[in-house]
Amino acid sequence: MCGIVGYIGDQPAADIILDALKRLEYRGYDSSGIATLEGKKIHLTRAVGKLAQLDTALKNTPQAGNIGIGHTRWATHGGVTEANAHPHLAADEVAIVHNGIIENYAELKAELLAKGHEFSSQTDSEVLAHLFLDIVRQGYKGAQAMQQVLARIKGAFALAVLLRDSPDTLFVARNASPLAIGIEDGLVCVASDAMAMAHLTRNVIYLKDGDYAALSLDELQIFDRDNQLANREIIRTSASPALIDKGGYRHFMEKEIHEQPDAIAHTIAAMTDAKGVLKTGLSDADLGDIRHLVILAAGTSHYAGQVGRYWLEGLAGIPVSVETASEYRYRAPAHLAGGAVVAISQSGESLDTLMALRHAKEMGLKTIAIVNVPESSIAREADIILPTRAGPEIGVASTKAFTAQLTVLFALAVDFGRAKARLSADEAAGLQQKLLSVPSAVGAAIDCFEAIRPIAQSLKKTPSCLFLGRGRLYPLALEAALKLKELSYIHAEGFAAGEMKHGPIALIEEDLPVICLLDGDDLSAKTISNLKEAEARGATIILIATASSAKLVDFDSFRVVIEDCDPLLAPLILAIPAQILAYQTAVEKGTDVDQPRNLAKSVTVE
Ligand code: G6P
Repeated sequence: MCGIVGYIGDQPAADIILDALKRLEYRGYDSSGIATLEGKKIHLTRAVGKLAQLDTALKNTPQAGNIGIGHTRWATHGGVTEANAHPHLAADEVAIVHNGIIENYAELKAELLAKGHEFSSQTDSEVLAHLFLDIVRQGYKGAQAMQQVLARIKGAFALAVLLRDSPDTLFVARNASPLAIGIEDGLVCVASDAMAMAHLTRNVIYLKDGDYAALSLDELQIFDRDNQLANREIIRTSASPALIDKGGYRHFMEKEIHEQPDAIAHTIAAMTDAKGVLKTGLSDADLGDIRHLVILAAGTSHYAGQVGRYWLEGLAGIPVSVETASEYRYRAPAHLAGGAVVAISQSGESLDTLMALRHAKEMGLKTIAIVNVPESSIAREADIILPTRAGPEIGVASTKAFTAQLTVLFALAVDFGRAKARLSADEAAGLQQKLLSVPSAVGAAIDCFEAIRPIAQSLKKTPSCLFLGRGRLYPLALEAALKLKELSYIHAEGFAAGEMKHGPIALIEEDLPVICLLDGDDLSAKTISNLKEAEARGATIILIATASSAKLVDFDSFRVVIEDCDPLLAPLILAIPAQILAYQTAVEKGTDVDQPRNLAKSVTVE
């Protein structure tokens, strides 16, 4: 998704900003740009495509100035063109970079057009640049101009602005989209993700919603939404300063698939108390008081939540609903007393999930967050944080964060089960032992890369395929289908195997690949019957199965077999071949594995 960087210091700003933008590259973008201010002259360079294009353009025409702003854009308003890339200029007096969406931009644009402003892009962000220009020309300066602009705009945004007539100052603002300020001797920087500037400074201020600021080397002035000077705490960020590399793997995704045994083990270790008992961060009082849970999440995190529901209801008898975050706050959700929400998010910044969390909070629900980024907005706003310890996940398609989320959800189910007296201490300890065996089972499952290659070679030719699962493997079928479509652009749908006969079976035709997840549980025989019905209609059957359940099938064309495991924990282990299938198919097709087209790592717009 879009990334913002800003810098003031004694170094050439364009070099520093380009380096910082590279650290945000993994989030997904389609164009980029940098504006610097040299005295009273604004310089601008923009490029479509990867940062390498911007780098080349800057080498061809170096850009002077020790203050500047930069941006990686993920198109929302207007196509992927240089004119739509940020920064946007207005009359060489204002340069702006913007994340988010200005909801009333059409109205503002009409007003500015009537005043004679001319636009060269289709973006809402250029409207902001002209709104600034209009206000500056009314005589407002610096932070006052920002205050006037903020009073006119609606939506979620993070902004960084250069004003020609304030050559030493960077102006920033945020509402719902993240923005952090970094401070060090001789430099001030800003970024939409602290990771982009952690190599410059570890001293970070997170702006609050409605805040705006005027930043120079001499002074940091931060104002709250009531235009009062605000004191915001400086924290030491835990974001990694190192440029994360692929560690010898071809892709970050391949590396992250291999990191899963560690990610799961670290997540378990962080939830193990001094007596060696599996305990999440919920107190006994919370575990006792909470009577039902609403899980809020998007994408892969949503499917983790759906798997979690099976564990929470099955082990703890606690009712759970799993909500699509983008829908939740718009449909007047009703809750019984004693409810809590669990927001699940790798990035902790998905705007849909953040807004849903806030809505739940306003309705008086206790809020719990399962997040991978401890300083993220969702982590900071939730009452209770249950961290996943997957480490930075760079590949856009989530892998290790997903299995780490499942790990926390399983532990949460055990915790609730014990607190609600659905599980004895011995039963809980037994489940803990089973969870402890997952990292090595996941490690063994990772060995299937080569076994999957022929399947991927066959799958890459298909325009469409289906994934089937029952019980806990139904949401995993949804996740496996999502992974394949994200990475290889093959149309894929997941279905509950028992639901096929109620409609989706009409899709089956000669050679349609049907990929079935099997774990040998009580439902396996029923799943196999459903699969047989697909095979009878000409489908090509591909099995992703545990050793003993695979023995029950003799009509498949391809199979990936993993060691037997407890079916209760099978989603954590069968997730691995599902990820590898999507990965290998993408490699065979030659798609951009780490940054698939149109996708962003963290989606900070609605
Ligand atoms: C984006 C990513 C998905 C991810 C989803 C939720 O759409 O492309 O891979 O699952 O956001 O992200 P979150 O950070 O909230 O888990």
